[in-house]
Amino acid sequence: MRRSLRLRGDAALMLVLSATLGLLLYAQRDGGAPTTSAPRTPGKAARRPSPVPRAIQAPDAGAAPLAYEGDTPAPPTPTGPFDFGRYLSAKDQRHFPLLINQPHKCRGDGAPGGRPDLLIAVKSVAADFERRQAVRQTWGAEGRVQGALVRRVFLLGVPRVAGMDKADTEEEGMRAHWRALLRAESRAYEDILLWAFDDTFFNLTLKEIHFLAWASAFCPDVRFVFKGDADVFVHVGNLLEFLAPRDPTEDLLAGDVIVQARPIRARDSKYYIPEAVYGLPVYPAYAGGGGFVLSGATLHRLAGACAQVELFPIDDVFLGMCLQRLQLTPEPHPAFRTFGISRPSAAPHLRTFDPCFYRELVLVHGLSAADIWLMWGLLHGPRGPACSHPRPAAAGPFRWRP
Ligand SMILES: *[C@@H]1O[C@H](CO)[C@@H](O)[C@H](O)[C@H]1NC(C)=O
Repeated sequence: MRRSLRLRGDAALMLVLSATLGLLLYAQRDGGAPTTSAPRTPGKAARRPSPVPRAIQAPDAGAAPLAYEGDTPAPPTPTGPFDFGRYLSAKDQRHFPLLINQPHKCRGDGAPGGRPDLLIAVKSVAADFERRQAVRQTWGAEGRVQGALVRRVFLLGVPRVAGMDKADTEEEGMRAHWRALLRAESRAYEDILLWAFDDTFFNLTLKEIHFLAWASAFCPDVRFVFKGDADVFVHVGNLLEFLAPRDPTEDLLAGDVIVQARPIRARDSKYYIPEAVYGLPVYPAYAGGGGFVLSGATLHRLAGACAQVELFPIDDVFLGMCLQRLQLTPEPHPAFRTFGISRPSAAPHLRTFDPCFYRELVLVHGLSAADIWLMWGLLHGPRGPACSHPRPAAAGPFRWRP
């Protein structure tokens, strides 16, 4: 009875959040260009009076547009040429207040189990409510998985809502609306971390250092941390199996490791890095930011190291620099596919939808909310996927180390 009431409450809240989000997105689409998608053609970005206050004050469910036309928004990507001068001059400002915290996330607070075995931290942007819902209810669900206690947080910055031509007061209004929305979401799901920096691609490094500092302070006893994007599918069971024999008090950072990557020197590339910013011919080894796992011990050491490394605009390379400072080599793991599945023999259109691939993987990158739901359903359906080859047997029955 209480459960069904709770479920009804959840559903109602989700409806309200979705509708408000839809209105906000609609308003934003007419307003300034969102920072997290490709720049729009100038012709279309005609100036219009901002529809924001109207949309908020008169929510008309019947007229509410669909929040998403076809798909969830892409994760932050660079938007046009990067202003290195500004970046360098602002680089020393690297401490931003936490606007929404989850101080009890890793405290047992009477709940059985106490400290989490695995903390899942997912980079997200405010507008991506739909993917957060997918993650919450599929692979990112909190609770016990194969005996391990799993907890989850989403990492957000302040959405850059207004274009250059917007009045400050309007921008403030937008920000206030977003903050209210995220506060409601935080009350409902207790998994939102919001920091006061702009949520842009080149600020993902700020997200990285703020998260490491947060986890180190608020989850000091966590055994392992998974950090990744919202557009991934993680096979948490396989991840836990991989972690089971590992000692959380020893160093570990595993993922899709990229070695000998060269900085892009072509000026027109979105990832262009001038030699003045990074002079060496190759980057240190780093784990693809789509998803990687680290031990509690490494979490604390990395939080300390990253606090001392100069900010670098590409977040996963930046983490590689912190690792290098610790003289710690990231461990390549073939089951982390941060660039999606690439198996030459598979038909391209089948790749992402074959649960038999997923069954053996830890992580796949580049999925929409719908993909995540679909894959979860296929993997956890009543019959499970019928795969032609047997699942590789784990060495003995799985047991989480006490
Ligand atoms: C990062 O966030 C800060 C604080 O909101 C902002 O001033 C800065 O422009 C952002 N930097 C980038 C590169 O987006």
